[in-house]
Amino acid sequence: SSMHTELEKLVGTAKGNDAKVAQKDFEGFKRLFHQFLQVKGPSVDWAKIHRPPEDSIQPYEVISTHGLPAGVPESVALNKLAVVKLNGGLGTSMGCKGPKSIISVRSENTFLDLAVQQIEHLNKTYNADVPLVLMNSFNTDEDTKKILQKYTHHRVKIHTFNQSRYPRINKESLLPIATNLGLTGENAEAWYPPGHGDIYASFHNSGLLDQLIAEGKEYIFVSNIDNLGATVDLHILNHLIAQPADKRCEFVMEVTDKTRADVKGGTLTQYDGKLRLLEIAQVPKAHVDEFKSVTKFKIFNTNNLWISLPAIKRLQDQNALDLEIIANPKTLDGGLNVIQLETAVGAAIKSFDNALGINVPRSRFLPVKTSSDLLLVMSNLYSLDAGSLTMSPKREFRTTPHVKLGSSFTKVQDYLKRFESIPDMLELDHLTVSGDVTFGKQVTLKGTVIIIANHGDRIDIPAGAMLENKIVSGNLRI
Ligand code: UTP
Repeated sequence: SSMHTELEKLVGTAKGNDAKVAQKDFEGFKRLFHQFLQVKGPSVDWAKIHRPPEDSIQPYEVISTHGLPAGVPESVALNKLAVVKLNGGLGTSMGCKGPKSIISVRSENTFLDLAVQQIEHLNKTYNADVPLVLMNSFNTDEDTKKILQKYTHHRVKIHTFNQSRYPRINKESLLPIATNLGLTGENAEAWYPPGHGDIYASFHNSGLLDQLIAEGKEYIFVSNIDNLGATVDLHILNHLIAQPADKRCEFVMEVTDKTRADVKGGTLTQYDGKLRLLEIAQVPKAHVDEFKSVTKFKIFNTNNLWISLPAIKRLQDQNALDLEIIANPKTLDGGLNVIQLETAVGAAIKSFDNALGINVPRSRFLPVKTSSDLLLVMSNLYSLDAGSLTMSPKREFRTTPHVKLGSSFTKVQDYLKRFESIPDMLELDHLTVSGDVTFGKQVTLKGTVIIIANHGDRIDIPAGAMLENKIVSGNLRI
């Protein structure tokens, strides 16, 4: 309860609404902190983890044969849906200031632009009224709201709500490092958004959950805003809506087949008779290889989720949502070791009735986390249509090439300067670039291409060059 005293002190440093919001946040934080102190050892008992039963993860191809009863227009299902984008994150890992969602990803469009275009297209095509809901954090709210003004005349209602703001705690003392509620100066690193699992409480607290239910919405489709493959899928929506009320599936997690690149992703398991998300952080060291195995746990979570609104309301009201804590250790710029307590949205699956995994095509998982990802989605491998990216039919192999750009490309600004135009990559399988490398206009890359500029050297790939199965390095010129 020294924690309690510290939090009271912090609230005391603010007035009016700030103090009220902080008080509410701290109630949530205290519950999480309490849970953190209670939990000893691993949060799962490995012996109780089983492969999920056959019918608990359905192939997308099976789901997509079901549909609405004949004669029911799509707008009936769509009008029961709201789309939620997780928008609490910053663009820091790509070297950008401000919300990640305002980075341009394709033809001058940002993540946010693409999300708006997709939903607007749906609303126009089906004469529907699907709203877009953004879950912002204190890091992204102000900048996002400024940008939202440009969509006022678009055919999509946009709602926002803020997730909570929790105090980082000192790793040794387990007490908040904040001295007041400010976000600048010595408190610049004192606060954090506690992960996307916060959505349940903050959505409920904001009043928006009740409002959407009152408007007749039944499901939300939640996804990471940086997943460009997370479009509204009518087959999944119809599958949900068409089910009889007593068998209603309250939670769908879209999963997809693991490749060697995804072995760290969360997977679905059967635990105490329920589907449960298992993250690598929860796995005892001795079982990490088993967790990563592509044969035992074949799929991973895309974080595309379909969740029943009345079910969220019921579980929130009963305080029955049980999310495992992720204790995320960090070292701050000043060298101080802190812990931030987080939760993940998918971890709630075990609390919902009739939860289901749907094994979707890989194309529904197109996250942009690095400039290597950005190069792929900016290239002619994809075409853009009404805010959605689809792989070009001109690519013979339906898989994406493996792209690895070195550290001189990490920041989006640097990456953009290094490409005069985006190369033709239709026949590329593998690209590795390292060091000080630039690309002229209209370069074509085919097969496996490796370009390595040694320290102190620079390699400029000339305009119009065609590199096919080539290694370019040192003084070797093409
Ligand atoms: P991240 O980009 O931080 O996580 O957030 P990740 O490692 O790719 O994927 P997960 O966590 O395993 O899913 C994913 C999405 O969640 C949002 C980010 O803005 C991004 O869209 N997010 C994350 C929040 O909205 N709030 C948070 O507190 C954390």
